[in-house]
Amino acid sequence: MTLLSTATLTSQLVNRILAIKPLSDLAKHQARSMMIKRAESIGVYWREEVKQLRSRGTEAEFAPAWEAELAQIQAVDLSYPDYYLRSFHAYEQGNLSWDAAMEVEVAAYAVHARLWQDAGAKGDAKLRQSYHTLLQQHIANPPQTILDVGCGVGMSTVALQSVYPQAHITGVDLSPYFLAIAQYRSSLLPSPSSPTWLHAPAEATKLPNAAFDLVSAHLVFHELPQVAAIEILQEARRLLRPGGHFALMDMNPNSEVYAKMPPYILTLLKSTEPYLDEYFALDLETALWDAGFAKPIVFCNSSRHRTVIAQVR
Ligand SMILES: C[S@@+](CC[C@H](N)C(=O)[O-])C[C@H]1O[C@@H](n2cnc3c(N)ncnc32)[C@H](O)[C@@H]1O
Repeated sequence: MTLLSTATLTSQLVNRILAIKPLSDLAKHQARSMMIKRAESIGVYWREEVKQLRSRGTEAEFAPAWEAELAQIQAVDLSYPDYYLRSFHAYEQGNLSWDAAMEVEVAAYAVHARLWQDAGAKGDAKLRQSYHTLLQQHIANPPQTILDVGCGVGMSTVALQSVYPQAHITGVDLSPYFLAIAQYRSSLLPSPSSPTWLHAPAEATKLPNAAFDLVSAHLVFHELPQVAAIEILQEARRLLRPGGHFALMDMNPNSEVYAKMPPYILTLLKSTEPYLDEYFALDLETALWDAGFAKPIVFCNSSRHRTVIAQVR
């Protein structure tokens, strides 16, 4: 039996296990405990960091300023697509909760800690850096206007801003909780130019046509069902100027790491990433072409991540 067919069988078995709710809940619990343990083993004090962020250095367990920040950023008339409303990353309310928002940064450090030997908590920064290096090498003219799709708490946005300090960057995300944190984090930075934050679905941003030189999606596509991924590519095409680029950095479906992943670990991974099968099965090159992009260039960032860059056709 080939590696691919063994991997497919394992994946199907894992899906059957995860269809049983008590087992899926157990897997989510295990996945979360494993992440917290890993974070603390690399010197990222998960519980303490989250406590600090929640209180914002005040006496309160949860700083009231967060609710004000949320009210300011939230688009009240927004209706969420169904796929976004399900449990995600072991959070019952998916990305629509303070818990998810407060923990996303420490989780990123834990998840990327083992990408390179001895990188530890710096693995996340190294992964982002490898993406930026590719953007700088393969996009000749530094982009002046950038849309960071699925910007989360702004880690990818602020990192892009430091690579392109002259650019005006907009971060768009569906979670107002994540955006509230993005806004707070960016307000603490000394940077003269601060990103603009937008609460909207990346597939229907309502931003003007041809307003951007670069649309970037960092670690977003593995969270999307195929329909949404394709709509986001079409929206990116609408938003890009002639000659503009779409770029994404995400898990690499062709990586042997996933094909050889032990079933227990694959179960934990899939319990927190409900659209992983759809992402792995997406024919990105065809989807990009159909949306109006030229043939993309693809690079490996790590043993399990890839960057894809495509120019408007
Ligand atoms: C794993 S996080 C990545 C965050 C950030 N780009 C980074 O690199 O740290 C994925 C983000 O995509 C957002 N997202 C998922 N689907 C979206 C959609 N349809 N429109 C806008 N944001 C979306 C989620 O809310 C989440 O913040």
